[in-house]
Amino acid sequence: MDSTHFNKVVYPDALSMAQRAAQDIAECAARAIAEHGRFNLFLGGGSTPRYLHKELVTEPLRSQIDWDKVYLFCGDERFLPVGDPEKNETMFRETLSGPLNFPEERLFNMPYLLPAEHAAEVYEKTLREHLVGPVDLMLLGMGPDGHCLSLFPGSPALQEQHKWVVSGPGLNPPAGTRITVTLPFLDQVSEGWFLIVGADKKPKLSAIFSGDMSFPSAVVAQRLKKCNWLLDETCNP
Ligand code: 6PG
Repeated sequence: MDSTHFNKVVYPDALSMAQRAAQDIAECAARAIAEHGRFNLFLGGGSTPRYLHKELVTEPLRSQIDWDKVYLFCGDERFLPVGDPEKNETMFRETLSGPLNFPEERLFNMPYLLPAEHAAEVYEKTLREHLVGPVDLMLLGMGPDGHCLSLFPGSPALQEQHKWVVSGPGLNPPAGTRITVTLPFLDQVSEGWFLIVGADKKPKLSAIFSGDMSFPSAVVAQRLKKCNWLLDETCNP
């Protein structure tokens, strides 16, 4: 496994992983702002990011990040009405943008517009208009089936060669349609970090770190220019 895409750091628990990741994000933000005047951050979905967001909105890290120069985007979304508790946007607002009083003009959530294909097209337009410069950091999680973003094993979205954002079936609960950035979009990303906790992820991580490239998380890691894996002990292969 090459260290550029499969560099692994293991932490005793989710809290210590989140604390270190938050410190590293503050440093990443400072570098990006120094280099090109802003920090373009893609937030990760699911439940694991809650640990990280709590660290980011709490002192001392809250003050260490120049939030006025941060632009928040998301890599995928459960295609549900605004306010649905299962949406990643709901988690973002509850745990990060809300506590920060983060301004809407720099917060780019995926829209709920019917049909889902239209929502994907609109978000792609949003990215092409408002993502100025590279994605400095994309935060990722991995499901027990090895999916990441909303790129599930066997998902047609994995075959997309041109679009940056597509809609597709959510093969796992919560079931239903998903919106996700695609593999071609990852060429805009400078660096990705997987933050993964939980023993249910261990089997797939064991396969991936043994060289199995068949799971979407491994394919995404390999496509990124650089990818780090931050794990807690329970999922460490
Ligand atoms: C989603 C995510 C998904 C998530 C993983 C891990 O919308 O579900 O984007 O890729 O990151 O499923 O989820 P947990 O952090 O809840 O384990």
